[in-house]
Amino acid sequence: MVRFVTPLLLASLSVSAFAAQKCNSSSQCKEEKYPCCSQYGECGTGAYCLGGCDPLASFSLDSCAPMPVCESKTYTWENLDNAVTQDKYLGNASAADWTYSGKEVKTEDGNLIMTMPANSVGTLFANNHYVWYGKVSGKFKSSRGKGVVTAFILLSDVKDEIDYEWVGADLTTVQTNYYWQGVLDWHNSGNITVDGEDTFNDWHTYEIDWTPEKVDWIVDGSVHRTLKKADTYNETSKQYEFPQTPARLQMSLWPAGQASNAQGTIDWAGGEIDWKSEDIEESGYYYATVGEVSVKCYDAPSDAKKTGDKAYIYANSAAMESDISITDNSTILASLGATGLDMDLGADKSSSSSSSASNSIPTGSGGSGGMSGDNTSSDSGSGTSTADGSETSTSGFTQGSSTQDSGAAGQNERVLRGSLFGVLVALVVLVTL
Ligand SMILES: *[C@@H]1O[C@H](CO)[C@@H](O)[C@H](O)[C@H]1NC(C)=O
Ligand SMILES: *[C@@H]1O[C@H](CO)[C@@H](O)[C@H](O)[C@H]1NC(C)=O
Ligand SMILES: *[C@@H]1O[C@H](CO)[C@@H](O)[C@H](O)[C@H]1NC(C)=O
Ligand SMILES: *[C@@H]1O[C@H](CO)[C@@H](O)[C@H](O)[C@H]1NC(C)=O
Ligand SMILES: *[C@@H]1O[C@H](CO)[C@@H](O)[C@H](O)[C@H]1NC(C)=O
Ligand SMILES: *[C@@H]1O[C@H](CO)[C@@H](O)[C@H](O)[C@H]1NC(C)=O
Repeated sequence: MVRFVTPLLLASLSVSAFAAQKCNSSSQCKEEKYPCCSQYGECGTGAYCLGGCDPLASFSLDSCAPMPVCESKTYTWENLDNAVTQDKYLGNASAADWTYSGKEVKTEDGNLIMTMPANSVGTLFANNHYVWYGKVSGKFKSSRGKGVVTAFILLSDVKDEIDYEWVGADLTTVQTNYYWQGVLDWHNSGNITVDGEDTFNDWHTYEIDWTPEKVDWIVDGSVHRTLKKADTYNETSKQYEFPQTPARLQMSLWPAGQASNAQGTIDWAGGEIDWKSEDIEESGYYYATVGEVSVKCYDAPSDAKKTGDKAYIYANSAAMESDISITDNSTILASLGATGLDMDLGADKSSSSSSSASNSIPTGSGGSGGMSGDNTSSDSGSGTSTADGSETSTSGFTQGSSTQDSGAAGQNERVLRGSLFGVLVALVVLVTL
């Protein structure tokens, strides 16, 4: 197998300035060599093929690695033993429950502190087990300050999404949202007024109860909003525009009000971030505090196609509920050069395995369009270099989508950014020989 790919690899190594190809569901990754479209719209291998890899925007439906099935579990934060950075995760969700990015992530008094130091792009925690219906609960104290957004969401690889978002300029409200396949609909959002002093100082429990029929947003045990699947039917397309594909639980703190963001995004976030705020001066960062988080898995739909119990896969590009199968496919890549099309690539580099076998190219400078300017890569929370002298560079964070036309996009663009928040450690790995 390695022999087979040699010419391709040599060819790619000869490309000195590699710029990641862009991708979306109407313009898929074109090269079989870099078949996976990451959550942020760039083609690659390895981490690009794992959580967030969009099968509809990838070279083919099976380019992304199969998705680890739901696992009911309660997470507490004595340490970060069950969390790894993205360059260390190859798809074995049993070995690491979370992948994360962030400069100064830490635990304190049994809580997780998601931080955002000055001029950084914050923290993202993504759970590696997909949920295909279930109830997720999180005890949170949000961050505060204009432009600072805390989020607790379920996000599927085809961009079905169910959100809680706290905008730091308004500490008595949590915003809720849902999306179906990333289709922007401004009407999908709703605000919940949170009782008590404010969401920064007070603990509250926020839950999403997601079944095939409905979504409930529950704060401190009371249902504040319900979305019924029946109410999402589109008469024209004859489809339910309801979140219905396996989704990962993600928690983040991010700078929506960063000066370089589109004005619509900044306005939504309550204004530009003050990097000299009280929290920055006193703690050195903005922060959100996460207590116990739990996931309770529900049964898959009764008519779901089931040939195993290890992985969800997309069997059809309509990407609706009935297009998901539960199988025994492996979810694990052999190296950061591997893809869903060749999951064993790099496997025979036995001993020091993926690190010595890999070399990577950061894509942040390749026009990812996410965070502005020079600090994109240097601020990366998890820039790493692996053993054996091989470099695993990371491009660091990419917040939101790489919308170029910042001017006119307005609210929809704002929503998309709010929706595809997050952090990307973009790893394009070439397997060297
Ligand atoms: C998809 O990507 C193509 C090529 O980059 C771009 O021209 C097009 O506008 C994108 N479509 C959407 C819906 O973003
Ligand atoms: C799942 O496994 C089957 C049988 O091993 C294989 O044919 C198929 O391509 C795999 N699907 C994906 C999405 O990897
Ligand atoms: C995945 O990780 C678990 C826990 O570390 C380990 O027992 C298991 O062997 C790993 N699976 C594979 C296929 O590497
Ligand atoms: C939610 O509250 C924010 C202010 O915090 C406001 O700008 C927004 O319009 C509200 N959204 C809805 C759907 O009421
Ligand atoms: C319903 O589906 C049609 C066709 O796909 C689409 O153009 C339209 O925007 C959808 N309507 C809503 C309310 O989402
Ligand atoms: C980069 O970060 C430094 C401090 O870390 C800051 O002084 C500088 O203005 C930032 N540059 C840009 C382009 O954001």
